[in-house]
Amino acid sequence: WVLMVTAQTPTNIAVIKYWGKRDETLILPVNDSISVTLDPAHLCTTTTVAVSPTFQQDRMWLNGKEISLSGGRFQNCLREIRTRACDVEDEKKGIKIRKEDWSKLHVHIASYNNFPTAAGLASSAAGFACLAYALGKLMNVKEDESQLSAIARQGSGSACRSLFGGFVKWVMGKEDNGSDSLAVQLADEKHWDDLVIVIAVVSSRQKETSSTSGMRESVETSLLLQHRAKEIVPKRILQMEEAIKNRDFASFSQLACADSNQFHAVCLDTSPPIFYMNDTSHRIISIAEKWNRSEEAPQVAYTFDAGPNAVLIARDRKAATLLVQRLLYYFPPNSDDLDSYIIGDKSIA
Ligand code: DP6
Repeated sequence: WVLMVTAQTPTNIAVIKYWGKRDETLILPVNDSISVTLDPAHLCTTTTVAVSPTFQQDRMWLNGKEISLSGGRFQNCLREIRTRACDVEDEKKGIKIRKEDWSKLHVHIASYNNFPTAAGLASSAAGFACLAYALGKLMNVKEDESQLSAIARQGSGSACRSLFGGFVKWVMGKEDNGSDSLAVQLADEKHWDDLVIVIAVVSSRQKETSSTSGMRESVETSLLLQHRAKEIVPKRILQMEEAIKNRDFASFSQLACADSNQFHAVCLDTSPPIFYMNDTSHRIISIAEKWNRSEEAPQVAYTFDAGPNAVLIARDRKAATLLVQRLLYYFPPNSDDLDSYIIGDKSIA
């Protein structure tokens, strides 16, 4: 027999960034972060997990290609889920797995991204969130989403925020064992449904410096990172929570843009410096800034993760239409500067 579970998880984009760990193994951050979860129709991971007594070892395929599961992060997630596994019974198939059997059974995992992997579009976020969720369902784990988020976190930090839709905060926590470093939902996807997210894929190539090694180097060498984590982010988190609560787009946009720019300033302050944005990214920032300044109120927020792709958050549908028109004007379809556009909505997991 084979027992299978399939789950789908959207990616999330941080508007207050996570950059830097205080514990590399448990993946504990140096500051809180806040994100918005995207519509699963546009950027998501679909993962099927299967268990069978005929499986000889744990195996995983990513976008159809087998990948090694020897990395500590997969093993940590698998172990954490396995220790919480419960009895499972499927009467129709005549399957009965007892709690204690799970340690002897192996799983096969097949995961697909519907967007470029590792091009700075937070693919690991959707990936590990989906893995933790699907394994949790397969093994009948009783933990709630926040507790599952602490397991997804051990796969990739940003993954913990993809267990919820809407606006999500990753609370850094204080405990050395990471038990209080988990995600909480700030507002669901209906709370601010005017917002429209437009992603300009500047490059779908794999990034040169991974987030993991980039942030390690920043922690080791950037004084700006220390200042940011201690003095800047705590205040910004409170302001961002307030802006989200009040649907205050002017504050939201100002905070998101400033935080993205400061994250990239930390990358520049790292030795050797890390360049995630390119000339096209910088041009997009200028276009957004100029447009916001020419209007009575800001129309768009921008944020860039560990890559050159722009995540643009328009205040409403009208602004999103004007934004896409502007992008098409500056980057016509035949231009070499953009690989493609993805247009999505802020939405629920
Ligand atoms: C720039 O979560 O990919 O996207 O925890 O080492 O797997 P690891 O890093 P990852 O880092 C994401 C960094 C970021 C900002 C963010 O998502 O908050």
